[in-house]
Amino acid sequence: MNKEEKYLLLAKQVEALIEGEKDGIAVMANVCAAIHEAMGFLWTGFYRVVDSAVGAEGTQERELCLGPFQGPVACMHIPFGRGVCGAAWQQRKTIVVPDVELFPGHIACSSLSRSEIVVPLFSADGADVVAVLDIDSRELATFDDTDRLHLERICRMIRL
Ligand code: SME
Repeated sequence: MNKEEKYLLLAKQVEALIEGEKDGIAVMANVCAAIHEAMGFLWTGFYRVVDSAVGAEGTQERELCLGPFQGPVACMHIPFGRGVCGAAWQQRKTIVVPDVELFPGHIACSSLSRSEIVVPLFSADGADVVAVLDIDSRELATFDDTDRLHLERICRMIRL
């Protein structure tokens, strides 16, 4: 099976898996397991946007907090705009990193990670980023437009 075919099967599996499930954590847990098993990545998981501290002017500050994942242990908190995950949150778009060593501010959770893709998940009205899907690969330049399009489609199926 080529990559496109693997993703088409995976999308069907994800659709069936999450059908009728209302619990976001359960959905994220099974979706990252399905992606991880199907594609053989190094690390596959979600970070959720959560309230962190109350800022000096009483404004609510937010951060990314580690959610369900598969793979080696990972960092638990990522500030807005930091690393690839924080950048995808800030820019509200998918970021593909062919070589993590060349991404300014990349947060290295595993020394085995060589390339990465981060896809934002939006609220139902599209106004807010509510989580990101983060995937790491052992090889350089693993992710291209095929990965981006299919992973974005999978992320659009998820309502948190
Ligand atoms: N590399 C990510 C941090 C998360 S780990 O890869 C699981 C980043 O730069 O945001």
